Amino acid sequence: MRRQRIAEILHSGQPGQSVTVLGWVRTRRDSKHGFSFVEVNDGSCLKNLQAIIDAQTPGYAERIRAVTTGASVRLEGELKESPGKGQRIELHVRAFDVLGPADPETYPLQKKRHSFEFLREIAHLRPRTNTFGAMTRVRNAVSFAIHEFFQERGFYYVHTPIITTSDCEGAGALFQVTTLDLEKLARTVTELDYRHDFFGKPAYLTVSGQLQAEIFACAVGACYTFGPTFRAENSNTTRHLAEFWMVEPEMPFYELNDNMDLAEEFIKYVIRRVQQRCADDLEFFNQRIDNTLSDTLANITENRFVRLSYTEAVEILQRSGRSFEFPVQWGNDLQSEHERFLTEEHFKAPVILYDYPRTIKPFYMRLNDDGKTVRAMDVLVPRVGEVIGGSQREERLDVLQQRMVECGLNVESYQWYLALRRYGTVPHSGFGLGLERFIQLITGMQNIRDCIPFPRTPKHADF
Ligand code: 4AD
Ligand code: MG
Repeated sequence: MRRQRIAEILHSGQPGQSVTVLGWVRTRRDSKHGFSFVEVNDGSCLKNLQAIIDAQTPGYAERIRAVTTGASVRLEGELKESPGKGQRIELHVRAFDVLGPADPETYPLQKKRHSFEFLREIAHLRPRTNTFGAMTRVRNAVSFAIHEFFQERGFYYVHTPIITTSDCEGAGALFQVTTLDLEKLARTVTELDYRHDFFGKPAYLTVSGQLQAEIFACAVGACYTFGPTFRAENSNTTRHLAEFWMVEPEMPFYELNDNMDLAEEFIKYVIRRVQQRCADDLEFFNQRIDNTLSDTLANITENRFVRLSYTEAVEILQRSGRSFEFPVQWGNDLQSEHERFLTEEHFKAPVILYDYPRTIKPFYMRLNDDGKTVRAMDVLVPRVGEVIGGSQREERLDVLQQRMVECGLNVESYQWYLALRRYGTVPHSGFGLGLERFIQLITGMQNIRDCIPFPRTPKHADF
């Protein structure tokens, strides 16, 4: 007998059809009339399959009590039209097995709703809840659509290193990678000799694959990276992770406006795909997590993003009459409260801000003729704030060298990056999308820790 996933059965199963179902029990209810109702879920969709096990079924008396919440089961039987409300079809069981029982006294997932904080402590079981089942499917659909978007446009998927010796963003938020015996060294030396370390010099987990993506963009054409990145920022916020996934396209012969067009098209494309493929899951998030979600997503896919310069944004914020916790002043980075004011209250739409002060942005961004601003762009969205950061890259060798010195970089160790400007330089641009922030936007989840299977944050790296 062919095994079938529950999503398939609920979608296209026909009365009279024989099926085998493998999954985990969500609930069991025993009727006085000599049969049990069992709700089974296998993760293929939000809905459970309702199964009816008659007391006459072989093994019923011995085994039905082991069919408890959390137990894994195999059910064989025939599909029938369901007389009950809430499902088109149900399974009438002819044979069943309990593959792995679950002690109902200690199984942590009870029928009541659990807090997300509690569920994070049992990250090994939270994928069995409705919310994290839906999260898993949405995250999968987002990832697939990201590849589709770029593949349809002829972008190459390049794999950039996870271990690196350069700091792309220059923010100093690096995790060091070493094989030195730190405990022993702490007892014996006052100064480290990196010649004894694995790579012979300090090495780190990457904060971004951009610099390496630029190498490929300036050789084979538009490309993108999609992988884990790491930041040792000690920020315990609902929008920061120490390990997160980033998508970084890099395009030769793109100027900042082309970059903005691509970013906007990209966000809209991926959301539409997820709307098509995960309609039930999005409806669940809309009902249970944030009932403005459908409207927010429709607003994003249907309207043109507002575009304005950082300087114009600062003027709007200063004229708003709002008292923000962090004062708004030209030259300061915008805070989450400012970004949210612009997207949620002032424009009520996604906003792309560009031309930021050079002093608050990394060395690689192209300097504008005013000498004060760089060709940066941030895409801001309601609730989440910055979901994309990008820029046109500095392609002029002399200007780039000056900027590196200004930013305190060791120019010698970036000779390979400068060589791209020395030999056949071209205007080019790119951006980085934070995958978990994007998923926060799409699902309406409050906390970014609930948008990744195993969140890593200060003092948390379990599982
Ligand atoms: O703005 P960021 O730092 O840009 C870069 O890393 C560039 N190298 C990208 C590029 O041009 N290729 O980071 C990009 C995005 C942010 O907009 C945000 O969505 C996300 O990455 N991000 C984080 N997400 C979760 N936790 C953190 N600690 C994050 N830091 C950045
Ligand atoms: Mg940024």
